[in-house]
Amino acid sequence: MTIRKTKTRKVVVIGTGFVGTSYAYALLNQGVVNELVLIDLDEAKADGEARDLNHGMAFGNPMRIKAGDYEECHNADLVVITAGANQKPGETRLDLVSKNAKIFKGIIDKVMAVDFQGIFVVATNPVDILTHLTREISGLPKERVIGSGTILDTARFRYLLGEHFEVDARNVHAYIVGEHGDSELPVWSHVQIGGVPLIQYANIQDVYQNKEMTDIFENVRDAAYHIIERKGATYYGIGLGLVRLTKAILNNENAILTVSAHLDGQYGLNDMYIGVPALLNEHGIREVMELDLSKKEQIHFEKSANVIQEMIDTGMK
Ligand code: 2OP
Repeated sequence: MTIRKTKTRKVVVIGTGFVGTSYAYALLNQGVVNELVLIDLDEAKADGEARDLNHGMAFGNPMRIKAGDYEECHNADLVVITAGANQKPGETRLDLVSKNAKIFKGIIDKVMAVDFQGIFVVATNPVDILTHLTREISGLPKERVIGSGTILDTARFRYLLGEHFEVDARNVHAYIVGEHGDSELPVWSHVQIGGVPLIQYANIQDVYQNKEMTDIFENVRDAAYHIIERKGATYYGIGLGLVRLTKAILNNENAILTVSAHLDGQYGLNDMYIGVPALLNEHGIREVMELDLSKKEQIHFEKSANVIQEMIDTGMK
């Protein structure tokens, strides 16, 4: 496996709200890129954020951080979009669709106008729909347009299962798939604790009848609501998730993460971005992992896909 050297590790972040700046802060801490450009409609805000981050440079990892304009996308490896309206208390991610679709049209056109040759990573909600829109407007190959999808939901799921069983979350193998939103689902049939299937490990006959397990999933699914009620927004978790994605791509890791990926027949679905495990490297998405879902899971997955499809058909007009 070739590890890409420091020549071209340039990331442009569009949107310097809580998510964009948490991502930037985590990048500075982890030393993943050597050039980071912040773009925001509010240029002074982007500039202020760049200055603040730069003042931590002596304590972090050497890199260049500055505020800039869309010209910077010309030679960027990644353009990460976090711009857009966010969920207000009581609002679903899907409520945001028409607001953010309009914002995206402007952004993608500007990025493509400077002959962008890299990979788009979309984090703005509703992420599956906005990733689809990004691909449509940009015309880029599907492997070069990726949504953060259920990367965070999967992390939440592994964390909660790990807490419950008192096992390091990194030894919990589990996926949340589907829409990054209310219709997502846990792939219970493939949950493993240190390689041991969950049903065997915890002696569970029917996971759907097990209150502890169903509570864990509900807490994953509703996590964003719980946080938004308490502090108004979620950003540290997704910021770190975006860094994980950035590393997988720029380090050519061939890592498998649950992202919003374009399906072309996998899981019986066509021309749809939805959260699934996918293998990521410097070309973007090398392949979508097609899990052997149980009947129940397949039905739930298709329902989730229908939610996304309806939004695409109605919400973006
Ligand atoms: C989250 O899941 C709101 O999508 C955001 O934290």
